[in-house]
Amino acid sequence: MPNCINLSVGEPDFSPPSYALEAGFEAAREGKTHYSATNGLAELRRALSEKAYKDYGLTYDPDSEILVTAGGTEAILAALLAWLNPGDEALIPNPGFVVYEPSVLLAEGVPVHVPLLETNGFWPCPRDVTSLITKRSRVIVLNYPNNPTGAMPSYEEIATLAKIAVERDLTVISDEVYEKIVYDGSRHYCLATFPGMRERTLVVNSFSKTYAMTGLRVGYVYGPKELLSPLWLVHQYMVACVDILSQHVALAALRGSQDFVRDMVSEFDRRRRFVVERLNEITGLHCTLPKGAFYVFPNIEDFGMPSDRFAEFLAREAGVLTVPGSAFGSGGEKHIRLSYAASYKKLQEALERMEKALRKLT
Ligand SMILES: Cc1ncc(COP(=O)(O)O)c(C=O)c1O
Repeated sequence: MPNCINLSVGEPDFSPPSYALEAGFEAAREGKTHYSATNGLAELRRALSEKAYKDYGLTYDPDSEILVTAGGTEAILAALLAWLNPGDEALIPNPGFVVYEPSVLLAEGVPVHVPLLETNGFWPCPRDVTSLITKRSRVIVLNYPNNPTGAMPSYEEIATLAKIAVERDLTVISDEVYEKIVYDGSRHYCLATFPGMRERTLVVNSFSKTYAMTGLRVGYVYGPKELLSPLWLVHQYMVACVDILSQHVALAALRGSQDFVRDMVSEFDRRRRFVVERLNEITGLHCTLPKGAFYVFPNIEDFGMPSDRFAEFLAREAGVLTVPGSAFGSGGEKHIRLSYAASYKKLQEALERMEKALRKLT
């Protein structure tokens, strides 16, 4: 469908900062084309250790408590392969990022869905979490700012779940890859900063979203040595090490000016406000203003159509590609996900088209 406007992709429509890319070219020219240490370039781990301290006051030893991975995707799978025995239960958000459930299944674990309800700001209700914990529960996966909903919990909401994790002795995989993409002066609180959490949390992060580096595949995990070392082994046999040139790009991105991130987020913010306002002008659509990431997750319930049929309708009749909420689990059924990582002009055109097409249904 050549004339479609694609709002289905989960990646920034920006290029990485040029000074970071230049560091990659430079490394190539200097012949830095060999394996790095399995856990990542020493300089990069040192820079990541400094970042954890600067951003959150957290101390992680660069040699034993930081692992550089092939994106957050590898980090999540490595964590689950490392920490689930066959039959162990992993609590995952529903709707949730598409990688969680297959990764639990690859680790021969049992996915247990924690509902994220719109009425609760798309954050797990403590009562639901407690009722889903059994003797086989081993891990809980949390993700904020959230994909697909864009939701951001408050400090208190995170603290309540952290307390449950401590009381029920769960290991937490905290997926924080959108940490820098937050709006309205919201603050991101790293899960490991909450009482009792550093020792039980694997913080997953990535350069993909913050520096628009999705194709370069650099992510990382912070965790105490005892939690992190089995991931390191899994990682060693899956990828040996992350692409060395990409690691040089990541290092330069981290060490350079952070204006790039600020400017990108401010442009996302402009688009976010526009998209939510326009969606709410369309009869039948209801959309809350998300506080993070670059997605909106409008409610399509009024149309009385399954989300996959609704997304297909939009593709065929409006030429706009979105993702059916059901792709993120049964809990997404009454929604579609739109990414505003597309130019303002494209977004304007897409919303015009959607409004026109959806008039036929009301
Ligand atoms: C919530 C979440 N976690 C992790 C990732 C993984 O990204 P990457 O593997 O590019 O770091 C994504 C990508 O879309 C995501 O949305």
